[in-house]
Amino acid sequence: MSISIRINGNQQEVRVDPEKPLLWVIRDDLRLTGTKYGCGVAQCGACTVLIDGVAQRSCITPVGTLNGAEVTTIEGIDGPEAAAVKAAWTDVEVAQCGYCQSGQVMTATAFLRDVPNPTDEEIVDVMTDNLCRCATYTRIRSALRQAADALEG
Ligand code: FES
Ligand code: FES
Repeated sequence: MSISIRINGNQQEVRVDPEKPLLWVIRDDLRLTGTKYGCGVAQCGACTVLIDGVAQRSCITPVGTLNGAEVTTIEGIDGPEAAAVKAAWTDVEVAQCGYCQSGQVMTATAFLRDVPNPTDEEIVDVMTDNLCRCATYTRIRSALRQAADALEG
């Protein structure tokens, strides 16, 4: 079956089983490997992408549900919130192994688009389901705070 999706601003036609998870279409068919496989069951957040601007777990999203949808991966995320998040992530030196970090950045960026001036509690809440085996949680929260403050000006 041919599925039409926009990935990072490019219209793409993929001939795949509509039940195939978006994660594997992104990684295997489109060769965008910044999105990671962690658990495969929506528990870790490593596979997070934006679908029509909303942070979603690509590992449990059948590509057949996305006809016409706009998908953004770590390779294509942009705009002021993404720029602030990336700058803060670098400044705070959040990443250790880096494996979970694209999912973290996607969740953080979508959050700041929705909640431009978050409380520390809201930051903790939104990031709680993105797991990090290297336990970079304190730095993730610091970086998100820094990004939010930078956007505030
Ligand atoms: S790989 Fe999708 S949530 Fe873990
Ligand atoms: S930085 Fe290693 S898993 Fe998060």
